[in-house]
Amino acid sequence: MTLLVRGGTVVTADRSFRADVLCQGGTIVQIGPDLEAPSRAEVVDAGGLLVMPGGIDPHTHMEMPFMGQVASDDFFTGTSAGVAGGTTMIIDFAIPGAGTSLLGAWREWSAKAEKAAADYSFHVAVTGWSEQVSEEMGTLVRDHGVNSFKHFMAYKGALMVDDDVLLRSIGRALELGAICNIHAENGDAVVHLQQRLLAAGITGPEAHALSRPPVVEGEAAQRVIAIASVLGAPIYIVHVSTEEAAGAIAAARARGERVYGEVLAQHLVLDESVYQNADWATAAAYVMSPPFRPRHHQKALWAGLVSGNLQTTATDHCVFCAPQKAVGRDDFTKIPNGTGGVEDRLSILWHHGVGTGRLTPEEFVRVTSTNTAQIFNIYPRKGVVAPGSDADLVLWDAHASRTISVKTHHQNVDFNVFEGMEVTGLARRTIAGGKLVWDDGDLRTVRGAGCYIPRPAFSPSMQALAIRNRLTAPKGVARR
Ligand code: URP
Ligand code: ZN
Ligand code: ZN
Repeated sequence: MTLLVRGGTVVTADRSFRADVLCQGGTIVQIGPDLEAPSRAEVVDAGGLLVMPGGIDPHTHMEMPFMGQVASDDFFTGTSAGVAGGTTMIIDFAIPGAGTSLLGAWREWSAKAEKAAADYSFHVAVTGWSEQVSEEMGTLVRDHGVNSFKHFMAYKGALMVDDDVLLRSIGRALELGAICNIHAENGDAVVHLQQRLLAAGITGPEAHALSRPPVVEGEAAQRVIAIASVLGAPIYIVHVSTEEAAGAIAAARARGERVYGEVLAQHLVLDESVYQNADWATAAAYVMSPPFRPRHHQKALWAGLVSGNLQTTATDHCVFCAPQKAVGRDDFTKIPNGTGGVEDRLSILWHHGVGTGRLTPEEFVRVTSTNTAQIFNIYPRKGVVAPGSDADLVLWDAHASRTISVKTHHQNVDFNVFEGMEVTGLARRTIAGGKLVWDDGDLRTVRGAGCYIPRPAFSPSMQALAIRNRLTAPKGVARR
């Protein structure tokens, strides 16, 4: 299949320039002005549009079993919705049940993801420690293209790990050339506060935010940064939502520690007032962890993206319909945690980022795809428009507007956290794997068209350096 994208302005993380883009067999083969269309090539008009790398969402949970429910977007509907918004790849999470195999979880998620309409990869969660976990981490890195492992410092009694597991797992990942992802919230503090709130008769969704105050996230971020620093290991903190956590990451980076931070589109623009909604179902629809925060935290998150101390944007797309949320009617701790946004992330970032002058178009590309591709070692296959890269492109209309709504979205969920928000900047066309799959409102995704993207381990020299920096035996002290 040959496709020529004609007449657009290519935008990458480092520059913008007028050029046509020729794609063949799913790969970009040529970029330049006034390219000749080969015979039988499909010509896609990009006149007046920006041609950018398709978005990569590094944090989604399609059809994830969680808190007694299963997230309602599956790999087909979720990746299709992403495509409608210009996202052409997701990195989801394979999560083993307590005491079960990491390899088994990777296989289980691989089977579920066969229906994906766009490319995908998996972080694999470590939810406990054993010799088997250590060995399987090695197998996943060597044989299955996994270079990142996820850890939850919250969700006590389910997914939460303690500091000992973090030390062992982060150390093992370093040895293997992989990076650890961290959900940073102090799970013991959360449970303690949940119990006190319930005992005080505060049972509604508003208690969710009260049980997870900013300090709960700030403490966990500080702690895991210290643990990684003991080992000289890089870490990636997911869904940073507070100035405390953003500050801890900035401070660590200023000390020369390799700490990365991810921000969700939702946390950038929504605040804690959503939990005050008089309608229980509406307030419950916003229950996610970390929760929405007082508005001033948004300033720190935007500053983190602008300064480069926070590198990626994601959505943690994990959606539950109203009847699923309703299981927590009498007890907020039972409301399944999760919100959506895979379809709207790019529009939110463009409107509130580029539209307000916070981000340049090139920085937009950096925080919506390039940095993710580089951190998770799939660059330049993904995250750039260049010869040899995958033909995953979004043809962006920087001037058109739309109003986000559950009535028009493609996500398989009965609520949209951005409902009613008018945004300027939208995906006019999306090309995934060299095929036009979103054409101005016409969604043409194909079940199973997405491919698993293996992610190679990081350079052994970087790992060796980190180990040498921290873990070699100090010279002995001479004593008489
Ligand atoms: O509320 C959330 N974020 N649900 C998904 C699981 C997680 O913590 O990422
Ligand atoms: Zn999380
Ligand atoms: Zn998540």
